[in-house]
Amino acid sequence: MRLHLIGIGTGDPGHLTRAAIAAINAADVILLPEKAGKADLADFRRALLACVLENPLTRILPFPMPGREPDPADYLQTVETWHDAIAVEWQAALARDLPSGGTAALLVWGDPSLYDSTLRIAGRLAGVTVEVTPGITAIQALTAAHRLALNTLGGSVVLVTGRRLRDHGWPDGAETVVVMLDGAESFGVLDPGGFDIWWGANLGRPEQALLAGPLDRIGPMVADAKRRLRATVGWAMDIYLLRPRGR
Ligand SMILES: C[S@@+](CC[C@H](N)C(=O)[O-])C[C@H]1O[C@@H](n2cnc3c(N)ncnc32)[C@H](O)[C@@H]1O
Repeated sequence: MRLHLIGIGTGDPGHLTRAAIAAINAADVILLPEKAGKADLADFRRALLACVLENPLTRILPFPMPGREPDPADYLQTVETWHDAIAVEWQAALARDLPSGGTAALLVWGDPSLYDSTLRIAGRLAGVTVEVTPGITAIQALTAAHRLALNTLGGSVVLVTGRRLRDHGWPDGAETVVVMLDGAESFGVLDPGGFDIWWGANLGRPEQALLAGPLDRIGPMVADAKRRLRATVGWAMDIYLLRPRGR
C-alpha cells in the first residue's frame, strides 16, 4: 500500500507542478479530508481535481477529519492525541477503499514539509509506504508577491508560529523571521518602531491582500485587512516576514 502526499500550493491552481498532476492521475484513490467549518478548502481541492484529474479510474473519497480542541492548555499532548485519531481514520479509509492495496493520495496545502502534520500522521500508519511530491509554500507565495529575497545577504531565516512569537518574542540573533499560523497579530509583542513587515493573506487567491512597510504603520492595518477578507470571502490565512528596521 502506498500513500502519496502531494503538495498543491497555497490557493492558486497554477501552483500545481507537472509532477503533482502526474501523481494525482496515478492514484487509485484520492482521500479528501472534510473538516467542519472548512468547506471552502475542500471545495478548492475538488475544483483543482476537476481541472487536472483525467484518469477515469481514480476515485475521489471524502472522509471526515476529526476536530481538535481550539486552544488547549497542554497544546502538544492535545495535538499528539488528535494526530492519533486522524491516523485511525486514514488506516480505516485505506483498508476500506483499497482492500487489495494500491496507491492513495492526499492533497496537502502548500508543501507537506512546512507546518503540516501529514508526514507525522502518515508515519503512524502500519504497512504503508509514503511518497512525497513537493509544493509551493506560503513562504514562496509571500516573497514572490512582495518581490522580496527571503534572506539577507548570507543571512539566516527563522520560522516561527504566531504562538511562539507571542510567548518567546524575537528569536535571539535572528536576522529574518517568518511567522505562520498566527491568529492574533502576535507581532504586537515587538517594539513597533524597531521592525519592518511584509504581510500577505490568501496568497494566490484572487482576493490576495498585501501590506509592507514599517511595523508601527502597517501593524494596525493588518487586523482590518483580515476582517475585510473574512467578511468578503469567508476566510483569511496570513503569513508575514519581519526584519529589524532598515536591514
Ligand atoms: C498549517 S500551515 C500550512 C503551511 C503549508 N504547508 C505551506 O507549505 O505553506 C497554514 C499556515 O500557512 C500559511 N498559509 C497557507 N496558505 C496561505 C495563503 N494562501 N496565504 C497566506 N498564508 C498562507 C498561514 O500562515 C497559515 O496559518
